[in-house]
Amino acid sequence: FSCSQYNTLLSTMKDIYSTAKVHPEPNVSWSLEPELTEIMAHSRSYKKLLFAWEGWHQAAGVPLKKPYQRFVELSNKGYQADGEYLPSTLNIEHGKGGRLKIIVIIWFYKTIEPLYLNLHAFVRRQLYIQYGSKYINLKGPIPAHLLGNMWAQTWNNIYDMMIPFPDKPSMDVTNEMNQQGYNATHMFRVAEEFFTSLELDSMPPEFWEGSMLVKPKDREVVCHASAWDFYNRKDFRIKQCTVVTMEQLSTVHHEMGHVQYYLQYKDQPVGFRRGANPGFHEAIGDVMALSVSTPKHLFTLGLLKNMSSDIETDTNYLLKMALEKIAFLPFGYLIDIWRWGVFSGRTPPERYNADWWHLRTKYQGICPPIKRTEEQFDPGAKFHIPSNTPYIRYFFSFILQFQLHEKLCEAANHTGPLHTCDIYRSKEAGAILKKVLQAGSSTPWPEVLQEAIGTNELDASALMRYFDPIIKWLEKQNVNETLGWPEFGWVPPVPEGYPEDIGKIRKKRYVILTSKGRLCLQKNWRRCEGNPISFQTPHRDVSL
Ligand SMILES: *[C@@H]1O[C@H](CO)[C@@H](O)[C@H](O)[C@H]1NC(C)=O
Ligand SMILES: [Zn+2]
Repeated sequence: FSCSQYNTLLSTMKDIYSTAKVHPEPNVSWSLEPELTEIMAHSRSYKKLLFAWEGWHQAAGVPLKKPYQRFVELSNKGYQADGEYLPSTLNIEHGKGGRLKIIVIIWFYKTIEPLYLNLHAFVRRQLYIQYGSKYINLKGPIPAHLLGNMWAQTWNNIYDMMIPFPDKPSMDVTNEMNQQGYNATHMFRVAEEFFTSLELDSMPPEFWEGSMLVKPKDREVVCHASAWDFYNRKDFRIKQCTVVTMEQLSTVHHEMGHVQYYLQYKDQPVGFRRGANPGFHEAIGDVMALSVSTPKHLFTLGLLKNMSSDIETDTNYLLKMALEKIAFLPFGYLIDIWRWGVFSGRTPPERYNADWWHLRTKYQGICPPIKRTEEQFDPGAKFHIPSNTPYIRYFFSFILQFQLHEKLCEAANHTGPLHTCDIYRSKEAGAILKKVLQAGSSTPWPEVLQEAIGTNELDASALMRYFDPIIKWLEKQNVNETLGWPEFGWVPPVPEGYPEDIGKIRKKRYVILTSKGRLCLQKNWRRCEGNPISFQTPHRDVSL
């Protein structure tokens, strides 16, 4: 086992992922960010969505299958040779002390599953109205490319197809942001101002000098949003190909939450400059975004013209939030279930894709929109697989963030339903958060949680309280729906004339060569010569 082989392979995989492109015509190319993301979010053409979806899975996924298989072998060898290389994906993630048990995770999933089934049935009905009975089976899974996101991980981008009360204010302020001339820097300043309003830290000068907030035109970069701690108490940065949308405004808060954590624990010894557990790190910025996205706060920012507070406006808002937060839960849950299967050998290479789709259908209730075989490698088309970033942390975060939100709202003297709370300018809320952040990983996370919110357990009841009104509303809409997807094996037909009338999906020309155990892209052969990435890279946290 060699560390440099492991790192070369990891960086090869990241390269394949971050340079993958779809070619709708010979001289046109679409990157994941921004073109494909924008198509997945806004196109309502079944065929065009399918083309973008299939093209991306072809371009990014297929060339990753071999390297990923090799990576798994190498990681497992490393594990046998030296426990230190044990990929954290093998273990459920934990902080110092409090280990998170898989059984707890399964139990959590059972608690929230009814919420998901109600959202799923409602969304499937709206998609049926849009795309018709040919493409949507009301007793089956939903084709995976119709949910507004390449991985169907969050569904807020199709909110406009299902606004409960269209005459009430729309909660998507993307147009307003563009009309007001928002740009990337301004979005980051808005986020910073929210943190400082809680008497947390502003971003240091090095942050503004060193960060990459827009996609550069002259070179290839990894666009997947990430935050970086250089461990010198000064350099903290964000890399994001920011686009002016409301969704990205949330991502900005997410990433800045990581940096705020770095800033608050920078005086801890290096070994403790981590989150209480990785799920805490993922939750901080999202907690901010829960306040920022409320109609009340959008009004404060001047992004909503009037501030009506009534049941119908609330229903609109909560549905949008459910499309973002509830829709994510099964996805956040299944990624590492798949990966644990792979690393343990229960899922061998000849079943990588089949087991992936089994889990996607079982938990998310979605199906592949076009035939999949083991020639494809669809897990590879999701950033966290080629970059080997653990995923269960996001599932943990999506439950924890509502617990934190509820406690901070109480400290901010909020009255009324939880989803209307905005902790803006609350010193008291800021003080609670500050303690959590400053502890870093010096204290076991259950103790950090106990100190902050008075319980030492992850608990979904805050999330349930937050969404209670919309779940009741959805249950009413769903009285005649079949919950779940009893026709498990159903898949949609291939549209006539696909893909000739929209472009051809080019097969990748990459050839994987093995030389002394190293895997190389043929056209990038020189990349394999020497210069392996150092093991002491800065610490990086990424978005969903
Ligand atoms: C972004 O917006 C800010 C504030 O509105 C403005 O001062 C700045 O010049 C803009 N930057 C760019 C690159 O357009
Ligand atoms: Zn993150």
